[in-house]
Amino acid sequence: MNVLFVCLGNICRSPMAEALFRKLVNDAGLSGQINIDSAGLNYEEIGNGPHPGAAKVMHEHGLSTDGLVARHITDHDFKWADYIICMDQMNLNELRQLAPAKDVAKVHLANEPVPGKKNQEIPDPWYTHRFEDTYQSLAVALPYWLNIIKGQLKR
Ligand code: 4NP
Repeated sequence: MNVLFVCLGNICRSPMAEALFRKLVNDAGLSGQINIDSAGLNYEEIGNGPHPGAAKVMHEHGLSTDGLVARHITDHDFKWADYIICMDQMNLNELRQLAPAKDVAKVHLANEPVPGKKNQEIPDPWYTHRFEDTYQSLAVALPYWLNIIKGQLKR
């Protein structure tokens, strides 16, 4: 199963989601069955590591930032991914436009499975500087995704 996290710049929210989900998957003993990556929708930060504010929060929560380098989403990503999990309505709209018709249903908002938060965005900390809030939102949402994806693995 392949999971792609997407945000605008790929230096704040989606790399944090990638690192946190990787930890959840590793802790669940599922790293051999679930592959994880992240990508961005703009071109501003390509080649850059996580934003210092994002990296600080990730390190405070025991997440590694090793190997996280911003890149732009590609056509191959839509084919590769089983789940494309994005952060806000702007990401969702853009991904739905970019995705080949057969892959549109792969695109979801991160909060979609969270009870009472289905349509709630994960705001961009690049503007708010509330990096800890980003982490806390992802820490609520991503275990739901792990459960959903776990249920789809071949036994
Ligand atoms: P992210 O935050 O989408 O959470 O990675 C942003 C980072 C950089 C930019 C926009 C959003 N930027 O335009 O450079």
